[in-house]
Amino acid sequence: MTINYSDRIPNNVDLGSNRTLQRALEHWQPEFLKWWEELGPKDFQVADVYLRTATSVDAKGWATYGYVRMPEYRWGIFLNERDPNRRIGFGDNFGQEVWQQVPGEYRATLRRLIVTQGDTEPASVEQQRMLGHTAPSLYDLRNLFQVNVEEGRHLWAMVYLLHAYFGRDGREEAEELLERHSGDADKPRILGTFNEPIRDWLSFFMFTYFTDRDGKFQLKSLAESSFDPLARTCQFMLTEEAHHMFVGDTGINRVVRRSLEVMHELNTDDPQVIRNAGAIDLPTVQRYLNFWFTSSLDLFGSETSSNAASYFANGLKGRPDEAQYEDHIAVEQAYTLELPDGSGGTKSEQIPMRNAMNEVTRSSYVRDCEIGVKRWNRVIEKAGHSFRLALPSTRFRRSIGNWAGVPTTPEGVPMSAEQFAAHKQAWLPSESDQTFILSLMHGVHQPGKMAAWIAPPDRGINNNPVDYEYVKLH
Ligand SMILES: [Fe+2]
Ligand SMILES: [Fe+2]
Repeated sequence: MTINYSDRIPNNVDLGSNRTLQRALEHWQPEFLKWWEELGPKDFQVADVYLRTATSVDAKGWATYGYVRMPEYRWGIFLNERDPNRRIGFGDNFGQEVWQQVPGEYRATLRRLIVTQGDTEPASVEQQRMLGHTAPSLYDLRNLFQVNVEEGRHLWAMVYLLHAYFGRDGREEAEELLERHSGDADKPRILGTFNEPIRDWLSFFMFTYFTDRDGKFQLKSLAESSFDPLARTCQFMLTEEAHHMFVGDTGINRVVRRSLEVMHELNTDDPQVIRNAGAIDLPTVQRYLNFWFTSSLDLFGSETSSNAASYFANGLKGRPDEAQYEDHIAVEQAYTLELPDGSGGTKSEQIPMRNAMNEVTRSSYVRDCEIGVKRWNRVIEKAGHSFRLALPSTRFRRSIGNWAGVPTTPEGVPMSAEQFAAHKQAWLPSESDQTFILSLMHGVHQPGKMAAWIAPPDRGINNNPVDYEYVKLH
């Protein structure tokens, strides 16, 4: 029996007209499905899940909703429409025509960038595979699976580029994307953060708020690329990515709201009393926030980077929203970094702007992270409490860059290792915090029911009520 892959794989790249590409994807698809069954969401493969499936890139309606068993999800390939007038937007080749094929001199670098992005997509599915059992509601269970299938589609998006533009080494890289696994001792995922399992839903919400947002900024940088198929692929991925961050943003919001309800009912802000009532106290939310925000900051790389400078010079990877800058060449500008001086203080250092691109992107990311924090704080303020959540300084608990291993307060004031150790419990999730959070994790799988540690969402998915049966378990 021959399978028509252009039918099985929804796409807007005219897959049916490219036999070579079709054959390459025919070989890869069963491997992907095998990976999904082995390392995708554990034990829910036969459930009917109310999922969104991308079917086009039309701004007015790009997705359909319906019940799907996850292994039958139609992972498609979508690139934003080609703009025939698009020009290179930054770097040494500014203003020239964008590339429809990979230039030989940038082949290895572009492949590496695509593989690194691609690697994070299945990694997060692997990290989250156990969470279905402890979902606080069917609504949340469905959102988890929505995020998971879309990360699977993002893998497809990168594999399409590898197959379509990088020939044999591209196909080999596509296979390796299924061979590395999160946390695997021999073949781990490329980036450190993606090798830690996510065991609880507070971490999942933090991950989707902070780490998926790192993904957003990486995609925004690649969406500026002179390699037009990569840019158009990433532009469309951003459309889906927005929902992942929505899950994190509203998830944290609901945790905070539930905490405030309990504080109100019991007229207390004593963390232990709130915990005894089955909710999560706000200082614990802050500690998880500190952990996930800082681990996501590391994903942007070192403050000073000659790689980032050459990506920019060559037009491979730009700044998020490059159009907002006046100078797209950025050779004459400088960027001032505040660095540790090695004796407990800080010093300023000027570096060429192109070498500071990681830091420029990280700063945009931090500003974007602030938006949710403000929203959560408004909820706390309205409830009449003085507690405020805050993003720690970008110097705090860093493992990469100039501040790596430099002990500081969450505000970024350098301190001794002994002082840091003495305060660590107050700033980062302790073992007992983790034990407590894990103790709350019990699956709630009846329509409309919520776990006691989280408030219901304001509304359901696609105009359905909150108590809709978002996942039909069998
Ligand atoms: Fe993704
Ligand atoms: Fe995502």
